[in-house]
Amino acid sequence: MTPRPLDPISKPNLLLSQWPRILLIWVLTPLIALASWRFLIGGVEMTMPHMMHHVPARELAFYLHIFLAPVALMLVPFQFWTRLRTRRPGLHRWLGRLYAVAILISGLAGLQIAIGTNAGPVAAWGFGLLAVLWVAVTGYAVWLAVLRRIANHRRWMIRSAALTLAGTTLRLELPLLAMGFGFETGYVIVAWACWVPNALLAEWLVRR
Ligand code: HEM
Repeated sequence: MTPRPLDPISKPNLLLSQWPRILLIWVLTPLIALASWRFLIGGVEMTMPHMMHHVPARELAFYLHIFLAPVALMLVPFQFWTRLRTRRPGLHRWLGRLYAVAILISGLAGLQIAIGTNAGPVAAWGFGLLAVLWVAVTGYAVWLAVLRRIANHRRWMIRSAALTLAGTTLRLELPLLAMGFGFETGYVIVAWACWVPNALLAEWLVRR
């Protein structure tokens, strides 16, 4: 039997070798998604007081974003789980639709809250560009699946997942950047640092 080709995200490599990948995708990412829903229990004022300015100004967009973006994040490990994908293709397609709808809504909402951030224009551009790319890249990846261009669909979904994982990298980087540069500067840096390295890593994974 000829061995099945490895998909790009499963190929062994130094940067994403198995254990760091399992820790990042299966442990930290779901934990961060779950922690993001803390507002459901404690309310925004108590659990994310620094975000309160969004509530009177753009309440619907804010709540749609903080509820649905973690749904997309939570789905990433399942969509890249080779066994689930090959054994339950129907489930993969349904979870894929949920992932895409969650991104469409929370991405457009993310763009609106990016424009309204009180962290300044550099942060607004960082988050804003991420929001536009997130929706566009994911939409294109879904379109490729509809056309049954599966190899390309995978490549673009790797790019989409790298942008979704900005939700994880932001929360890992922010404490370090805040320690190094202070919270305000660290926050502006993280608006770019949470996704540009992810996007570059995805390009490398897709092209090697
Ligand atoms: C990838 C595209 C994303 C964009 C463009 C984006 C954009 C934003 C923006 C602009 C804010 C408000 C920041 C401010 O006002 O200073 C925010 C807050 C937030 N986002 Fe996202 N976000 C994205 C992904 C995610 C993901 C994947 C999650 C899942 C965990 C997430 C969860 C949250 C939460 C919970 C907040 C509230 C504040 C906090 O907990 O830090 N976002 N997002």
